[in-house]
Amino acid sequence: MKIAILGTGVVGRAQALRLSGLGHNVVIGTQDVHKTIANTDKDYMGNPPMSEFLRANPNLKLGTLAEAAALGDLIINCLRGDRSVNALKALAKEVSGKILIDVSNPLDFSHGMPASLTVCNTNSLGEQIQAVLPNTKVVKAFNAVNAAIQVDPTSLAGGDHDLYICGNDAEAKAKVEQIARSYGWKNIIDLGDISNSRGVEMLLPMWMRLMGALKTPIFNFKVVK
Ligand SMILES: NC(=O)c1ccc[n+]([C@@H]2O[C@H](COP(=O)([O-])OP(=O)(O)OC[C@H]3O[C@@H](n4cnc5c(N)ncnc54)[C@H](OP(=O)(O)O)[C@@H]3O)[C@@H](O)[C@H]2O)c1
Repeated sequence: MKIAILGTGVVGRAQALRLSGLGHNVVIGTQDVHKTIANTDKDYMGNPPMSEFLRANPNLKLGTLAEAAALGDLIINCLRGDRSVNALKALAKEVSGKILIDVSNPLDFSHGMPASLTVCNTNSLGEQIQAVLPNTKVVKAFNAVNAAIQVDPTSLAGGDHDLYICGNDAEAKAKVEQIARSYGWKNIIDLGDISNSRGVEMLLPMWMRLMGALKTPIFNFKVVK
């Protein structure tokens, strides 16, 4: 399948590598290809610059956000949450009729950690994205899970934990479930329509506090009945 990953951060890279490893044809989108390739600095986490990452993974292609979105049959939004609505609104034509997996979180780091939410309670980023892309099937997924666990739930966290998804289109959710199962996810909980993004995004305040207390991002939630 042709898949577009929007974003060159840790999530975009993790999703791109995993999907490419599973045999998908992956293109990564960035705001400014020239600037991204010219950057020789490691990121704040010590990850290598994108040029080095692409040299090590020649199957992955880089394009503008619009080029990537146009090429992909399925799109994964791995952009900064507080920039996602505007960035995706500009891609409405390219993503029309397609499935868009939204991994982003509406985080505001301007007052330090733990970050607060830019939208919550009566609205969510997932809903805002669906509202500006009415012809796109938005499925919220993977947002409350660390990037490494998103694409490999078993090796780092044992596999017996939950992935929450939601969206308005049943076929789109089935496709996203299929991709998640190909990563190794077993416990996938469909919360219902896209308004349930409110719930999975509001897990983030708790997720960040757990990361502080546990001193690692390598953990996940499991519902026990
Ligand atoms: N880190 C995790 O483990 C994790 C886990 C679950 C969910 N998430 C969510 O996944 C998303 C990606 O997280 P991340 O840690 O990989 O990276 P990030 O640092 O949050 O953002 C990465 C991307 O945002 C893009 N970006 C920044 N400003 C932009 C703008 N004005 N317009 C369009 N794009 C812009 C950057 O584009 P360029 O390529 O052009 O620089 C970059 O590719 C976030 O929403 C985050 O909350 C993260």
